[in-house]
Amino acid sequence: MAAPFPNHPQLRGNYAPINFEAQIQDLVVEGSVPSGLSGSLYRNGPNPKYAPTGPYHWFGGDGMVHAFHFNEGRVDYLNRWIRTPKHVAELAEGRSMPRVRKPDANTGKVAADHQNGLANTHIIWHGDQLLALDEGSHPFELAPMTLESRGYSEQGRQLSGAMTAHPKIDPATGELHGFGYMTGYAGSSTLSYHVVDPSGSVVRSDTFEAPYPAMVHDFVITNDYVLFPIFPLTFDMDRASKIGSPFAFDASQGTHIGVLERGAPVSDIRWIEGPLCFVFHYQNAWNEGEHIWVDTIEFAVAPNFPLVDGTLPSYADAQGKLVRWHINMKTGEVRQESVLDVASEFPRIDERFTASRYRHGYIAAASTRQRGDGGLFHEITHVDMDSGKVKTWDAGVGNGVSEPVFVPESAGSAEGEGWLLATVYKQATMNSELVVLNAAAVDDGPVASVRLDHRVPFGFHGSWRAN
Ligand SMILES: [Fe+2]
Repeated sequence: MAAPFPNHPQLRGNYAPINFEAQIQDLVVEGSVPSGLSGSLYRNGPNPKYAPTGPYHWFGGDGMVHAFHFNEGRVDYLNRWIRTPKHVAELAEGRSMPRVRKPDANTGKVAADHQNGLANTHIIWHGDQLLALDEGSHPFELAPMTLESRGYSEQGRQLSGAMTAHPKIDPATGELHGFGYMTGYAGSSTLSYHVVDPSGSVVRSDTFEAPYPAMVHDFVITNDYVLFPIFPLTFDMDRASKIGSPFAFDASQGTHIGVLERGAPVSDIRWIEGPLCFVFHYQNAWNEGEHIWVDTIEFAVAPNFPLVDGTLPSYADAQGKLVRWHINMKTGEVRQESVLDVASEFPRIDERFTASRYRHGYIAAASTRQRGDGGLFHEITHVDMDSGKVKTWDAGVGNGVSEPVFVPESAGSAEGEGWLLATVYKQATMNSELVVLNAAAVDDGPVASVRLDHRVPFGFHGSWRAN
């Protein structure tokens, strides 16, 4: 018999998991789904099946994928847990089974295991494979229409380390660029850099040393460079007994940006000093010669993690803002420029412009009210990065929006001509909708709201796969 869930802030409200898998044909739509919108939206996030037996963190829940299949104005839905080895073992036992990794008797190190993760952070389409990702593991493959778990991707076994949940697909080549951190064992300062060709085959997977062991969530590519920014959310196992976490933001270690020319060996990486701050997610980056621009959601320190003295960041320090960096590779100088002074996260773009000069960004934001229960965002905002103008849709008091995923109107349409898809949690009725916004007129509100009778719990990231 399954035990009740504890009263925990990250297991309440719309952070609470749902305890079923559903398949729903032809959802009720208010408004009109654009007829050209043909394909599938996938969203991934933590959804523990069983009540945790030890400490719980939002990042530690089992992955559940929600799929919305669009076809000529009709939308079908299904959700499935990802059958990771952990989830399968828990179903067999009928209880939560934390993954305990013991140190090696000879080295004292906890070896990395890239085939025993949660697959709960992102879901992408690459190499004709639907891949669920978490930053400690190899990609996990699902069937695109049924979400049936196919297991860890065969090609992923060739990777020298884990695959970030935020690989970048170069629209010019179809290549996927990714990286892993703490390669080999927990606390390692070794990073890996992966390139996967459009068919899904690993073409390079090299390792190199970072200045210190740290959590590294995202990175960027430009047409000519790959950048690995390392912020001082450092790892020290001795801290765990002192402040309850091996990770802490240690400002004394500084920020270091590894810059590699595309195609060059990792021995050519040049490390330059970066701004002291913390970034989970980048909106995009591009370069003109030796000038590189990187658009970030920048925090003063690492939100949700302690400082080295064990204290947690202030509310103000835990708000991310859209900031543009300009890196001059000739001088090694980095300059920051505020783009939008509004609490924001989950930046997305028209991904046909990944790695290139672009104009339009889309974020989840909180400009008119403080972030609500559990930190949710209530707005979807379009930022014109050239003019600085913003257009915002407010989902309503108490409601929460997901990351907005951009879908181009057609393969040949101009940048920003298309749609934004996001799930919205409606607090009053405790259900979720999928909204479709015109990306060029976000402030007009949804052109279609696709209604579910249940909640889609707050999750992380998602992608569109065109039919
Ligand atoms: Fe992320």
